[in-house]
Amino acid sequence: MRAAKNILVVEDHFPAINLVSDMLRESPHYAFNVSMATTLKEAIEVISHGDIDIILLDLNLPDSKGLDTLRWIREENGDVPVVVLTGEYSEEKGVEIIQHGAQEYILKTECDSSHLNRSVRYAIERKKAERGISENGDKVASMISHIPGMFYRSKGHNHDIMDFVSEGCSGITGYSADDIKGSRRVAFNSIIHPEDRDTVRKEIETAIRAKKAFQFFYRIICANGSEKWIWEQGNGIYDSRGKATALEGFVSDITQQKKAEDEMEESYKKLAETLEDTVNVLAATVDARDQYTAGHQKRVAQLSFAIAKKMDLDDNRVCGIYMTALIHDIGKIHVPINILINPRTLTELEMNMIRTHSTVGYDILKKINSPWPIAKIVLQHHERMDGSGYPNGIPGSKILLEAKILAIADVIEAMASNRPYRPALGIDAALAEVQKNKGLLYDKAVAGVCLELFQKKKFSF
Ligand SMILES: [Fe+2]
Repeated sequence: MRAAKNILVVEDHFPAINLVSDMLRESPHYAFNVSMATTLKEAIEVISHGDIDIILLDLNLPDSKGLDTLRWIREENGDVPVVVLTGEYSEEKGVEIIQHGAQEYILKTECDSSHLNRSVRYAIERKKAERGISENGDKVASMISHIPGMFYRSKGHNHDIMDFVSEGCSGITGYSADDIKGSRRVAFNSIIHPEDRDTVRKEIETAIRAKKAFQFFYRIICANGSEKWIWEQGNGIYDSRGKATALEGFVSDITQQKKAEDEMEESYKKLAETLEDTVNVLAATVDARDQYTAGHQKRVAQLSFAIAKKMDLDDNRVCGIYMTALIHDIGKIHVPINILINPRTLTELEMNMIRTHSTVGYDILKKINSPWPIAKIVLQHHERMDGSGYPNGIPGSKILLEAKILAIADVIEAMASNRPYRPALGIDAALAEVQKNKGLLYDKAVAGVCLELFQKKKFSF
């Protein structure tokens, strides 16, 4: 079944009207209800009733000539598709007709039924498609304006002149989108915090050079003078020669998140300070009880720190190793003092009692809320790479790197210092022990770093 369409034929020449009406009757797709107008005035009158689906327009009428006729018709109702009937043709003329908003044009001398009906159909369908695109565009624009944040497109590759900013601009900056667009009142660059402006510029330039997307956060000064943290992500738009001609991106307000992060960092710092105090108290407790252990833990911590630093571990991890080393023998507070300071060689039973200190240390420390695996490092500091250590005899693959570092520092310090049951063996003997068992009892890489520290005189007790 053919769809009913109201068509307005604007033509001052009656034979032509009759001819066109006959041709339209032959349309395979539409059943046309034809209205007529012989002047522009009459045409505008008909259009004003609002139920016309398409207009067939002769540009030369008694009261209007040429493109002015089309302009008037479009002004009256720009949404109705127009097919122009023209007696004179040139390519430029055809382009002009389309540029003035007609969907199609037909040369009168070439107008036959199939040509006319095809052109009318194209015009109707094209307008339908345009309306669809326009509706989708409206939906996207509405969505963009409701998203809490600001979309933008700027000229060139900085923020100075914004071609487009979405409505979210006012929520973030306090300036309206119109203030920022085209830098009418404010250039976006000028609201970036003066201390961050240079960084923002450099970040964008680096991304543009690499033709990559950018994202970073920085501060802005809002219209009311307050400061906000914003996060921006975007990318350059490049022409066919690869030159950046615009930036497109999205900006959102992260002031609350930044505040929460800062507070968390502050509380983390306080926790670390509290932990440091706790570690120092525990270390002092062990030191006060046993003069040999006193100082041992401190020196082991210094050497562990030096090794970890030399291995390029991150500062947080280095800090954890240092803290743990300061209390690594805390489990010895459960060993009777007369065994710890016994000047003779210990019996197997006494040795076994001393060997409990790593497990006891683990039990004491596991309750501490710490950002580092302090308890586990202490538990493993007498484990060895070949599984011959204690308390669990685990192999190197299961030993924490921190415990491997602590183990070597512990052995070197213990051998280099006086013990209750023997005088110091000396640093050379200690280094020889590590050299001999490097890769067997001690981690090869850690041992290598440690030996280098002493050989190049970068560390001494
Ligand atoms: Fe120990």
